[in-house]
Amino acid sequence: MNIKKELFGKTGDNKEVHIFNLQNNNGITVKITNYGGIITYLSAPDREGKFDNIVLGFDSLEEYTSPSYIKGCPYLGAIIGRYANRIANGTFSVEGKQYKLVLNDGPNHLHGGTKGFDKVLWDASEFRSGNLTGLRLDYFSKDMEEGYPGNLNITVIYSLTDQNELKIEYRGQIDKACPVNLTQHSYFNLNSMNSDILGHELYLNADKYTIADDTFIPTGELAHVANTPLDFLNPRKIGERIKMLEIGYDHNFVLNKQEEDELSLAARVTDETTGRILEMYTTEPGVQFYSGNFLNGTFTDAVGIKMNKRYGFCLEAQHYPDSPNKPDFPSSILTPEKKYFQLTVYKFLV
Ligand code: GLA
Repeated sequence: MNIKKELFGKTGDNKEVHIFNLQNNNGITVKITNYGGIITYLSAPDREGKFDNIVLGFDSLEEYTSPSYIKGCPYLGAIIGRYANRIANGTFSVEGKQYKLVLNDGPNHLHGGTKGFDKVLWDASEFRSGNLTGLRLDYFSKDMEEGYPGNLNITVIYSLTDQNELKIEYRGQIDKACPVNLTQHSYFNLNSMNSDILGHELYLNADKYTIADDTFIPTGELAHVANTPLDFLNPRKIGERIKMLEIGYDHNFVLNKQEEDELSLAARVTDETTGRILEMYTTEPGVQFYSGNFLNGTFTDAVGIKMNKRYGFCLEAQHYPDSPNKPDFPSSILTPEKKYFQLTVYKFLV
């Protein structure tokens, strides 16, 4: 069990940015920077015990802050907030007041705006306790930052256990009502970027998904996945039916739960070639499964591998897109009386 802190670079306003290297007793290594809470590297063993990186990322801060990266907005490995996914027309009303947010995804607001939680500097402190090693990140988001009301204190705790789990715990408190919906935007490739992810097999614990319009905004209706390419109740290869979809997978699935807010299995991804398996558990009601459709080879990782189309997949635990405007969806409104809490666990197996 080990944790190392190193300088990763400096922000435009000359603040030091760090990178934290967390390792468990089985040799799994995760590198996380306090810029955007980004996971830049995650090395896990294959069935032969060979370790390799299984997430898309860079090894320098400059690449995460470059104009071409900002323009491409792939959100590699970052914490997304205040509101992950889309808000239709960038508007919502709470407590009788209408708010307008930046439109950064066609007619809609996406992933917290121009400078979301993926592009801010978090206060970081590393810790070790029992059989885990971790990193605590704190951020204070001011009232009206990116157009969102309320002063929000948010904490994200990453911890790596000897059971080969990466736990991500989110806690927050606000002084005015506002939609709050955070997620983690890592792109995984269990074959260490030696191929695209179309051969990976996916199980998704979801009978239903939210039907969306062509700008990815839910209509409000939930539909059964049965007899559609979205049915992953029995494990299927990601690439098997992807051609039946116009863009690929970029859908919000309604997770099957016994009880609201319970931590339960959302997804399992298996890569036959290496034997690596990724399981995801979450307390959230939904997960956006995104098949890396907008990657186009513009970016190259630390070992020179091009991030081509479908070279990574994301499983983003979240409340459903556009919840602030969909009264029938589970509410994403945080009020001063409530506490924000989310727990998501990625487990690495062979
Ligand atoms: C999410 C969205 C996608 C895309 C990616 C990042 O998955 O749903 O449409 O924005 O983030 O490119």
